Amino acid sequence: MTIRFILNGEDMEISTEANQRLISILRERFNLTASKNGCFNGNCGVCTVIFNGAVSPSCLIPAFRIQESEIITLEGFSQTVEYQDIMAGFARAGVENCGYCDAGKILTTELLLEQKFQPSREDFAAAFRGVQCRCTDAEALYQGVLAAGELRQRRIYGRSS
Ligand code: FES
Ligand code: FES
Repeated sequence: MTIRFILNGEDMEISTEANQRLISILRERFNLTASKNGCFNGNCGVCTVIFNGAVSPSCLIPAFRIQESEIITLEGFSQTVEYQDIMAGFARAGVENCGYCDAGKILTTELLLEQKFQPSREDFAAAFRGVQCRCTDAEALYQGVLAAGELRQRRIYGRSS
């Protein structure tokens, strides 16, 4: 089948099998390897992308669902000032970025901060349910999200509260 979609802001058209997964298309057809192959069943978050405005595991998205969609990968997001907020917040809180889990942690943080600059622990726990990282404890990651939100608020409004 032929599918058309927007990938990191650019119009794309490719021919693929209908049951091919987005993770494979990104890695094999576009050499976008920030989304990793992990569990392949939606549990680990290392394959995360922003799909039509929502954080989604790309291992669960078959090609036929990509038609007319908009996809942002970590490679695309890393070109934004919002990415810089998150990296600065993570650095301040000592959040590890090993390269394997980055897509899940960073893109999930972005979608959370788009809703609130200072998400509650409950918001954080719900958003990160599908994101696994064995190296950073949940409290440090939460503090990193809060620090990123504070930096963003200050960048946009010139103050943090
Ligand atoms: S590889 Fe997609 S959620 Fe684990
Ligand atoms: S920093 Fe990547 S798995 Fe923990």
